[in-house]
Amino acid sequence: MKALVYQGPGRKALEDRPKPAIAAPTDAIVKIVKTTICGTDLHILKGDVATCTPGRILGHEGVGIVDEVGSAVTAFRPGDRVIVSCISSCGKCDYCRKGMYSHCVNGGWILGNAIDGTQAEYVRTPFADTSLHRIPAGVDEEALVMLSDILPTGFECGVLNGKVQPGSTVAIIGAGPIGLAALLTAQFFSPAEIIMVDFDENRLEVATRLGATTVINNNDGKAAEKILKMTDGRGVDTAIEAVGVPASFITCEDIVAPGGIIANIGVHGVKADLHLEKLWDRNIAITTRLVDTVTTPMLLKTLQSRKVDPRRLITHRFKLDKILEAYETFGHAAQTNALKVVVEA
Ligand SMILES: NC(=O)c1ccc[n+]([C@@H]2O[C@H](COP(=O)([O-])OP(=O)(O)OC[C@H]3O[C@@H](n4cnc5c(N)ncnc54)[C@H](O)[C@@H]3O)[C@@H](O)[C@H]2O)c1
Ligand SMILES: [Zn+2]
Ligand SMILES: [Zn+2]
Repeated sequence: MKALVYQGPGRKALEDRPKPAIAAPTDAIVKIVKTTICGTDLHILKGDVATCTPGRILGHEGVGIVDEVGSAVTAFRPGDRVIVSCISSCGKCDYCRKGMYSHCVNGGWILGNAIDGTQAEYVRTPFADTSLHRIPAGVDEEALVMLSDILPTGFECGVLNGKVQPGSTVAIIGAGPIGLAALLTAQFFSPAEIIMVDFDENRLEVATRLGATTVINNNDGKAAEKILKMTDGRGVDTAIEAVGVPASFITCEDIVAPGGIIANIGVHGVKADLHLEKLWDRNIAITTRLVDTVTTPMLLKTLQSRKVDPRRLITHRFKLDKILEAYETFGHAAQTNALKVVVEA
């Protein structure tokens, strides 16, 4: 089968690989129908993710058809159409029993990282019963690719952790796919204002179309100042960090209102300063989270009932044999206006 293989920092190739086989009775083999590329794959290619070693097939998102199941799999049969979750959960360890699948001691984020991933014709998915989701008839499968990672990430790490409330004021720093997923799902709770901040005019235009009440281009570095002015110096109830660099986290510190929450989503590679000398008396909270994907079944229902349409984040489509072009397009978003690229196997 064809597969996109990480060959070490800065190197990747489309290779011919053997079709994966069942390795544990709880495994399933899924024939990939559609997959996508995540910003995290670009982090891996930069050499930022030590657990991902050369030779690994990348990808942790996708929808497909169950091809084969291990003897212990009871919830799925060959032919079932499924969403592959970016998090593998055994369902049995202490963390899984708490609903914190991201820290499953037997799984967690391993797909396309510690084990071969979804940017291939077939993928072996561990703990199939508790890591795959059945696709209901009549739901758009392209939209469902967004349920593997970005929608639950924006919702769990940003919106739920940030306790977005009716009538509240929200700012989202970063209008990439994750920030936009937070924007889409924040609207379940009817906040009064959602302010989006980025440097990219195209992404800010998309944010306006998707429901942002104000967009701010931070090219002049004055986003925090402008947000404070807009809110009479008060700041925002929820500041969602959806970038992963120190500057954007500090913007969140600058704009969080008394009693507010900074909900960090971004993957940080270096330290960010925490200004406790300004924040100690402001009754704020800071949350961090690796997506658990506990809300995937709920989000699937909102997609089915058209309360949310993540298809609006898809900008490009490629066939699997053109996945190197898909990486080029996705990796140069400022020139190509790419958000999510769908790759068809
Ligand atoms: N916590 C989790 O479980 C989890 C899961 C998936 C992704 N992530 C992380 O979420 C982050 C966002 O992902 P993405 O795919 O949307 O990334 P992305 O790189 O596509 O988007 C980030 C956006 O932030 C903008 N930006 C950069 N610096 C900024 C600043 N100082 N102020 C305002 N905007 C700024 C960029 O122009 C870009 O549009 C990444 O760090 C990613 O690794 C976390
Ligand atoms: Zn991802
Ligand atoms: Zn577990």
